[in-house]
Amino acid sequence: MVRRHKPGARTRMARARSVSSLRKAVAALRARGERVAFVPTMGALHEGHLSLVRLARRSAERVVVSLFVNPLQFGPREDFSRYPRPTARDRALLAAEGVDLVWEPEVADVYPPGDRTRVHVDGLSDVLEGASRPGHFAGVTTVVTRLLNAVQPDLLWLGQKDAQQALILERLC
Ligand code: PAF
Repeated sequence: MVRRHKPGARTRMARARSVSSLRKAVAALRARGERVAFVPTMGALHEGHLSLVRLARRSAERVVVSLFVNPLQFGPREDFSRYPRPTARDRALLAAEGVDLVWEPEVADVYPPGDRTRVHVDGLSDVLEGASRPGHFAGVTTVVTRLLNAVQPDLLWLGQKDAQQALILERLC
């Protein structure tokens, strides 16, 4: 009996940690010529994130979500260590939405020791929220560049709750 693959058919959600395991898993998703939509998040998922995941699912056969609390976008007086990380709950929510792959890198996977390279979108990153949170948007643009470089998706889905961030990321892309 020949088993036919149904494009976008649901599979058990896979998990990756290192960049190399992520790349292998994405390559496996792409093996049948299916498109990959990507939703980057810092976890602690809520309905807004899940609505992006649903849009992503409708836009491509495969969906990859990252859960990564990015230290680079926190200022010295903003508490990175206390940011919520309800990982088991996040995984369960993503699995229930039919996500194909969740990527949970360690800080050292995204920022290897000694890394000093930053991505900065001039102008817009330095006004409004950027003026009161120096370095914040460079932290966002640097991490999104790295996540995109690792996943290399066909489509990227981002929230618009932070309008300045959304515009900066549009310029970055
Ligand atoms: O908006 C967010 O949740 C974050 O800034 C993002 C885009 C996932 C980058 O860490």
